Amino acid sequence: MAEAQPPQNVYPIGSRINELGRLEVGGCDVVELAREFGTPSYIVSEDDMRARAQGLQAAFAEQSDDFELIFASKAFPCAAVCALFAEEGFGCDVASAGELAIALAGGVPAARIQMHGNAKSELDLERAVNLGIGAIVVDNLRDLDRLERLVDGSAKQKIYLRIAPGVSPDTHPAISTGGPNTKFGFDLEHAPAAIARAQAIDSLELAGLHFHIGSQIFDLSPFEGALQTLASLGDFKAYNLGGGLAAAYTAQDHPPSYPEYAAAKAGALASVFGPGHKLLDEPGRALVANGCVTLYSVESVKRNVDTYVAVDGGMSDNLRPMLYGSRYEAQIADRFGGGTACHLVGKHCESGDILIRDADLNQPAAGDLVVVPATGAYGHAMANNYNGALRPPVIFASNGDARVVVRRESDDDLLVRDV
Ligand SMILES: Cc1ncc(COP(=O)(O)O)c(C=O)c1O
Repeated sequence: MAEAQPPQNVYPIGSRINELGRLEVGGCDVVELAREFGTPSYIVSEDDMRARAQGLQAAFAEQSDDFELIFASKAFPCAAVCALFAEEGFGCDVASAGELAIALAGGVPAARIQMHGNAKSELDLERAVNLGIGAIVVDNLRDLDRLERLVDGSAKQKIYLRIAPGVSPDTHPAISTGGPNTKFGFDLEHAPAAIARAQAIDSLELAGLHFHIGSQIFDLSPFEGALQTLASLGDFKAYNLGGGLAAAYTAQDHPPSYPEYAAAKAGALASVFGPGHKLLDEPGRALVANGCVTLYSVESVKRNVDTYVAVDGGMSDNLRPMLYGSRYEAQIADRFGGGTACHLVGKHCESGDILIRDADLNQPAAGDLVVVPATGAYGHAMANNYNGALRPPVIFASNGDARVVVRRESDDDLLVRDV
């Protein structure tokens, strides 16, 4: 009987169950990858990420002749991933001097980088200005004070102002960022004074307004509402609509397609401001979530009141389920199917270290290889060393070849800062 194939909305494009009954990603058998690179490991289908990058560019090109797509590198801050999106025509959004260093290491030209942050340090801004980055998204008046001092005026520094439009999309409160009471940006009461202040600084060029209302957004209608509130602040040449498109984490998730997303954003901009405005967008999650799977080894299966399948990773490589209850699904990599109700748990010293509550695995046993798909967004980004965990490598797989782009951490890495 033919094996059931992995749900294509969740797994990397082109993933399949091969003749040995094992998952293949990027043309590579994941059992072989686990043997070669160990577990836990992040396996990225390079072709998936390129296809999504090209798909989003094409979707916006259908809708607008003046647009710029910027990869929100916080979703997967890794030089190779930044390089991939730069090669596909994306700019790069960074949220600190650290992310700036990663983007530059990926070969992203400084002029294609934009810096964000609600608590930028002097160092963040100094680096950004001295390196000549493309734009700085100003979040607060202190950003403006510092930029007035740091920019020498020989060339104007392009800026956008981040506005909190008071709109809350239907998503988890932890990733809703543009509502009426948020730590991000200028609210509508304070925005007019901030705009006037920015326009009064000769060394700055206020190119337009920015908002980011949240992440993992399925219902696209709030983008038009957000633009309508911005209309009260004047008419600018450019608007950055901040990414936010949802990704499919489980087979039941069906986010809007890229063409639907681009049409909603371009349509909203045209209907609120008319033609002749530049559209910027800075997605992260929807570009990188589904291109990556995490491989884990099962270390123990315990039948207490419930069945606990414990793997060699957990909240150190995927913090999202513990931070805000994000749902994932899992499979045994060479035995897709279900039948055993269990909790997929990590190895960390917290009862809350549960990767998937109420998972359904096919007769899990110690030594099995477990795959969790859709881990590309904010997984590697939030990885940590809790319990001395060595952060996993990032492996790029393409056409049956695999290469390490971020190596696994070592004990020496854990100790490198101790003096
Ligand atoms: C300012 C800003 N832009 C873009 C993004 C990317 O959002 P997403 O990954 O949902 O597309 C974020 C995510 O937090 C953000 O804070």
